[in-house]
Amino acid sequence: MDVKKAIEERRSIRKYENREIPDDLLRGVIDSARLAPSGNNTQPSTYYVVRDEETKSKLRENKVFSQDFVYNAPAIIVCCTDPTAYEKHVKGWDSPNEDRAIRDLSIASSFLVLRATELGLGTCYVGWLKGEKIKEILGIPKENLVPYVITLGYPAENPKPTLRKSIDEVLL
Ligand SMILES: Cc1cc2nc3c(=O)[nH]c(=O)nc-3n(C[C@H](O)[C@H](O)[C@H](O)COP(=O)(O)O)c2cc1C
Repeated sequence: MDVKKAIEERRSIRKYENREIPDDLLRGVIDSARLAPSGNNTQPSTYYVVRDEETKSKLRENKVFSQDFVYNAPAIIVCCTDPTAYEKHVKGWDSPNEDRAIRDLSIASSFLVLRATELGLGTCYVGWLKGEKIKEILGIPKENLVPYVITLGYPAENPKPTLRKSIDEVLL
């Protein structure tokens, strides 16, 4: 699959087969995120992958996600980024470090999601969450931000494409 096809075929998947993701595929999607560019090559992002039922139960008990499908996904990739990782900050020339950290994580996440698509895996970004509670449960260092998680698994649905603006609306 080429990049164009992965971009066109990716959908948010909210129903997954009850099937384990092989370790090498999981490592492969995280590896694609690792290869993404970041400001000043700072690489502020890290990923905690929740696959075990015990941790999922803890997350569920604490109601960290508002949607049930997240707990039922074979893997929940908790996307973390560290604003304190940036050594240089040139005021007036760059965004605040929190913005930079989320910017870099978001670029890396796109690589991750497209590679997952290529491997036949489904993903969904999930921003409706209690990030601070997730950090507490998983022991994620407090300086990290958790703007979203990405669910991952073999798709058990085939959603239609969602609407997009036309090219003339976005190319100004
Ligand atoms: C940053 C981000 C956060 C999102 N948060 C949620 C979420 O909390 N719950 C959910 O069901 N979908 C979430 N989505 C998925 C969007 O609803 C979805 O990408 C959009 O409707 C377009 O559909 P598509 O991904 O199938 O093309 C999120 C997407 C992004 C990029």
